[in-house]
Amino acid sequence: MQPIEVPQVFSNRYELTHRIARGGMADVYRARDRLLDRPVALKILFPELSVDRAFVERFRREAQAAANLSHPNIVPVFDWGQSESTYFIVMEYVDGEALSAIIRTQAPLDQTQAASITADIAKALSTDDVADVTAYYSGVTAPFPPLATADPSLVRRGEQLATLGEATKNIPACNNCHGPDGSGEPPAIPYLAGQYTQYIAFELHSWQRADRKNSPEYMAMVATKLDDQDVAALAAYFQQIRATNQPAVPK
Ligand code: HEC
Repeated sequence: MQPIEVPQVFSNRYELTHRIARGGMADVYRARDRLLDRPVALKILFPELSVDRAFVERFRREAQAAANLSHPNIVPVFDWGQSESTYFIVMEYVDGEALSAIIRTQAPLDQTQAASITADIAKALSTDDVADVTAYYSGVTAPFPPLATADPSLVRRGEQLATLGEATKNIPACNNCHGPDGSGEPPAIPYLAGQYTQYIAFELHSWQRADRKNSPEYMAMVATKLDDQDVAALAAYFQQIRATNQPAVPK
């Protein structure tokens, strides 16, 4: 965090002390709330955008939406105002590293850490939020990660398991349920085509450990028949394939 050289005070109350980050439409500062004598975070709309009514309106809606959320895992909004020819949002100051920075410097995160972060985010969602997020993602295609890295013989073995299964081990062909090109059958059967290797492997291991408790009649039964080599092969294969019937990414 960069200390501020020339102190600047917003609304005669919030004194900027450190610069934290620059975002797409605003700068974020650490400030001292003179009235309550506590640190806060100030998100300040770029002054050049404050002359544009559409940006100001978007910024105000963001503040309002955030102010209506109340959960220990969501940073609370304290105040909103206009000063120094622009607009700002006052939020709780949370010490620590931004998740985006952690992902940028440490990705790929190990699975336990990723699951624990995601669980904290998920806890902040209401039932309506979950429904909205689910509806959105059911219309989005797989991220289509790069194809080049997988070992071709592993991918071939994965293809064999996915399309034919393995009779001697009683493994059914995944595609019997997940569709001929792994494109799934929403909403009951998720697509596998183009999913990240780590994701597929993590899900299969979760069923093996009985950590993922839904769908025991199908997936727990399937996953417990797979050994680590099978999981690696299937995960490598599904990342490589591209479903034909997935809807395009909404713009
Ligand atoms: C008998 C049908 C059936 C077969 C065969 C089957 N699956 Fe599934 N699979 C399902 C269902 C149903 C779900 C959704 C479970 C849920 O919502 O909890 C699922 C979910 C999954 C998921 C989780 C995906 C996600 O995004 O949540 C993975 C990974 C998966 N299956 C992999 C496989 C693999 C690999 C095989 C082949 C070895 C396979 N499945 C075979 C029915 C099947």
